[in-house]
Amino acid sequence: MSELSMEVNGRKVTGDVPARTHLGDFLRDKVRLTGTNLSCEHGVCGACTVLVDGKPVRSCITFAVACEGKQVTTIEGYDNDPIMRRLREAFHEKHALQCGFCTPGMLTTSRDIVLRLADADERRVRIELSGNICRCTGYQGITAAVMSVLEALREQPDPEVDALRRAAAEGKAALPEPAKAEEFAGFTAVQRPVAKPAAPAAAAASAQSAAPSQAAAGDKAGKGSSIQGGFDVPFPASRVWEFMSDLPAVAGCLPGAAIEEQVGDEVKGKISIKFGPMAAAFKGAAKLERDEAAMSAVLRGAGQDTLSQSRAKGDVSYRVVAVSDQASRVEVDLLYSLQGPLAQFSRSGLVQDFVRRMIAEFGRNVAKRLDLPEGAEPAPQAEFSPFKMFMSVLWDRIRRFFGGKA
Ligand code: FES
Ligand code: FES
Repeated sequence: MSELSMEVNGRKVTGDVPARTHLGDFLRDKVRLTGTNLSCEHGVCGACTVLVDGKPVRSCITFAVACEGKQVTTIEGYDNDPIMRRLREAFHEKHALQCGFCTPGMLTTSRDIVLRLADADERRVRIELSGNICRCTGYQGITAAVMSVLEALREQPDPEVDALRRAAAEGKAALPEPAKAEEFAGFTAVQRPVAKPAAPAAAAASAQSAAPSQAAAGDKAGKGSSIQGGFDVPFPASRVWEFMSDLPAVAGCLPGAAIEEQVGDEVKGKISIKFGPMAAAFKGAAKLERDEAAMSAVLRGAGQDTLSQSRAKGDVSYRVVAVSDQASRVEVDLLYSLQGPLAQFSRSGLVQDFVRRMIAEFGRNVAKRLDLPEGAEPAPQAEFSPFKMFMSVLWDRIRRFFGGKA
């Protein structure tokens, strides 16, 4: 094993890898930046192209240990890059991608062309791109996209691009400005209209002890993914509301969550999630806004997974509805958005099912805690098994697919 340290997209990354590990595997498997695609793994197709100290290299034939102390830029690292911004728009406008598999490599090579060859004509662009293979054969659109960026810059020079070109001409690494980790920027109070509780008689018909209710999922006006769920508990609404207003108690019932600091209704903490191949530990802050009269609250939070650098923002709204004198329902509405490598998981049906299971598990824990005699210490939570839950979600999906009942 070799100890390794490099900068990837402006962030220091260390690891222990067998000396034969290539950079592509290191980036995908250890750094979890899966935007770098691997195809031929022989240095032929160009799909795996990344920048090392500002120069394009094939990460499938570059040893990771050869990049010790170097600056590596992957397709995830161009948020603030003026050339990539233009290229992304041009690829979209000129239909330069179909399946998108070659696109990270194509964009990286195209950026290098725009950087080095301000006067390139179409023939030169095609020659420069000849090391990148598109299995969808979208070369016409790709060449048109690169040409349109070059022509636009010739017509109207861009000082930011010029600065990068000057740096490259002087032999310096013309790297994109690393994206700043999104910091939690505080809260803005929002008056959220609270829907009227359902009529107790109608709700009573569906009351079940700690059972998950029907849930729906969708996209709320482009603000992110939304999942609605809920659970029923056999306790009066006022008692459930009192419990649901106590942040540490609520966090104690949420699988994987831990509060590290609390000041009034503001908390800092973390939540760990493991879902199939995806594992993340989001650290962040949240604030609870309560509407005592309506027995509803919104927990607004934002956090970041330090490993994948994915960022999450979300509102968890909940309200307690009296089903009868001795039973209540907690309706939960989760609105969230993910940025960064984990964003690819945010809308998958599996994730939606998984979150609903989490809500149901949360409901069971709330019911258990409410059932404790006055003053009794809650027993430590039984070990939560995300793997077991993931497999059960998967199994239900398979059964549904083959016509069985979930
Ligand atoms: S995967 Fe590296 S060149 Fe094809
Ligand atoms: S767009 Fe599919 S491989 Fe290029």
